[in-house]
Amino acid sequence: MKFTVLTIFPELVAAMRAHGILRRAVQRGQIDICAIDIREFAAGRHRVTDDRPYGGGCGMVMKPEPLAAAIRFARGRMPGASVVHLTPQGRPFCQAAAWDLALRGGLILVCGRYEGIDERVCSDFIDEEISIGDYVLTGGELPALVVIDAVARLIPGVLGGESSAVKDSFHESLLEHGHYTRPRVFEGHAVPDVLLSGNHREIEKWRREASLVRTFLKRPDLLMHRALSPAEVEILQKWRSDIEKIIRNQSLHCADSLSGDQQAG
Ligand code: ADE
Repeated sequence: MKFTVLTIFPELVAAMRAHGILRRAVQRGQIDICAIDIREFAAGRHRVTDDRPYGGGCGMVMKPEPLAAAIRFARGRMPGASVVHLTPQGRPFCQAAAWDLALRGGLILVCGRYEGIDERVCSDFIDEEISIGDYVLTGGELPALVVIDAVARLIPGVLGGESSAVKDSFHESLLEHGHYTRPRVFEGHAVPDVLLSGNHREIEKWRREASLVRTFLKRPDLLMHRALSPAEVEILQKWRSDIEKIIRNQSLHCADSLSGDQQAG
């Protein structure tokens, strides 16, 4: 899978391919990450890429000609690629969107700066718009790198073990269970016994339940939009009855402490 980032700051992209898992994936030829400097497509000695907005107002707008020329050039090199514009107005990025993008024949990521890019480029040259969250950054480069990181790790072979990406948080709308490594006891907290048992079936069961507990506690909204398996329903019903017991006991504790108060009075 090839990623091409169109930007006026290509050096931000270079850092991404120089480290860690993505560097190894580039070296192995599993992915390629490159940057195209939009300035190289700008006319004149100063290679200006921005201009004042028609109608007045503050800020600058990215000029259409250099951007359009850069996109045409990138498309010529990557005929099957999708052209994605990073903007706070785009479709919210999520794990499912990452899986979807991982199936494309390459990604050309267009990064705006200033107030954004000329609307005519948006309408004529962009296949889709993506936002990485409801906040505004100074440019699309960080969002582009976020998208590359999330998508690249889904490309077969990039993570090493084929199954790693499938066990991620958000797979099947669940958060991932906790992880432990040595030492066995850290500052008084021990690793759950089952993980030391060597019983892989029990370990798998513990992980599935831990995953469900986490999702329920941290992101119950994910469970609202998902069909539960009979085993998961059973786990939730067990918690419900435990929680109900705790609440019932609370009313006993309340009664105890009230009668204690009365005796004291
Ligand atoms: N550009 C500026 N802010 C952004 C955001 N939140 N997502 C995508 N692109 C952006």
